[in-house]
Amino acid sequence: MVLKKKKHCYIRTFGCQMNVHDSEQMVELLEKGGYETTSDMARADLIIVNTCSVREKAEQKIHSFLGRLRRDKEKNPDLIIGIAGCVAQQWGRNFLDKVHHLDFVLGTHNIHRLPEIVKDVESSRSRIAETTFRKSVQSLGILTIPKNGKVNAFVTIMQGCNNFCAYCIVPYLRGREESRKSSEILDEIRFLAAHGVKEVTLLGQNVNSYGNTLKNEADFSTLLAMINGVEGIERIRFTTSHPKDLSDELIESFVTLDKLCEHIHLPIQSGSDSVLKRMRRGYTSQDYLARVEKLRARCPDISITTDIIVGFPGESDEDFQKTIDLMRKVRFDNLFSFKYSDRPGIASESYNDKVEEKVKSERLSFLQNLQETHTLEKNRGLEGKEEEVLIEGASKGSEEEMTGRTRTNRIVNLPGENGLTGKTVPVKIVRAYMHSLRGELLPGREV
Ligand code: SAH
Ligand code: SF4
Ligand code: F3S
Repeated sequence: MVLKKKKHCYIRTFGCQMNVHDSEQMVELLEKGGYETTSDMARADLIIVNTCSVREKAEQKIHSFLGRLRRDKEKNPDLIIGIAGCVAQQWGRNFLDKVHHLDFVLGTHNIHRLPEIVKDVESSRSRIAETTFRKSVQSLGILTIPKNGKVNAFVTIMQGCNNFCAYCIVPYLRGREESRKSSEILDEIRFLAAHGVKEVTLLGQNVNSYGNTLKNEADFSTLLAMINGVEGIERIRFTTSHPKDLSDELIESFVTLDKLCEHIHLPIQSGSDSVLKRMRRGYTSQDYLARVEKLRARCPDISITTDIIVGFPGESDEDFQKTIDLMRKVRFDNLFSFKYSDRPGIASESYNDKVEEKVKSERLSFLQNLQETHTLEKNRGLEGKEEEVLIEGASKGSEEEMTGRTRTNRIVNLPGENGLTGKTVPVKIVRAYMHSLRGELLPGREV
């Protein structure tokens, strides 16, 4: 008898949490189709690069990664190489002309078609590009069974975006906004709970407008209340919120829903009203501050994180100073900051007064230094305090160390045993660092 050799697939993921989840779905589909995943690219029979195009640098990274794969294909002509995600969507069929060692291009709405496409490539060695936009959110519902005892999982509640912020390529690559039915979302979350998941993170480009594209569907805060009732789920998170759509009902959810964690990622992008206007964000810095004030009045411990772009076309020193002033007012728990980057087809590509690279770099490093002082100050404020920590598993550095997160999404490392994985435990914070906290288990106490 000849034993059939198991085929191996390797997926490299770039980009946002949405892409991470899309890769998890691809793994699920490929494993069902007889592939085994490997973390060793050299062993792979199939390599998929799941890509991001949000900034020019992100796209460049993809092209150089793909370029390096040419050698592997020369050495092993049977190797199948596919590209998925946002750069795949952007280039479509042109990718096949440009990169000759590429076998298939899989657009952002077509993950469910992966098994078929791989089969076709295997059988006929044809080269395939599938980047059709689909209204049916078909790809979103692929169930992924949590691997290696994972206690947290992503659940996509909507695809696409209708906002068309002037700097952003995402709506062009992920299509128009479409929500999934709440009944489907709840079924998926019940399935995850039955497989040991304790924490779900709901994903969407703008979760606040959940339900808008469906008739007689729950709005976002109602959806959260429904998920709060799912047995076995202990924590709910979501990302991302758009400040213009952050409703009072959602703010109240932080008070009324026991499982909703006290953290909100609320990208501001700039503190200058004229920049915000040209970005087409639909709110002013005053509107933003009013939302933050209300969030903190109703939920004093809430952690607020944000995204900021420096060097948007026409951003003056005064505009930048307004961003800094706003940061000092809000004192964000943390933030992601980026240098503005031109993307093909976005509105601001044609704006005048592009900011020099050197000025962008100076602004970015000034802003990041300021944020470091705020992050550390916030983390130090937790020293000596008690926090509920959901243990996610052994920490990377040491076997006797466990790692988990506070409800406010801070990483905590603590001495402990593997048996703690999946448990929510009371922890005393003993030391604060920039990127994590150090804690000690409070023995004999239940949360
Ligand atoms: N849907 C989310 C995030 C989308 S992209 C939201 O609305 O917040 C993630 C972040 O990348 C954005 O918040 C923005 O800060 C940044 N970004 C998007 N396009 C960019 C560009 N052209 N240059 C630099 N940063 C950009
Ligand atoms: Fe991009 Fe704006 Fe949509 Fe976010 S809300 S994905 S920044 S267009
Ligand atoms: Fe990047 Fe696409 Fe996400 S461009 S940020 S991978 S939606």
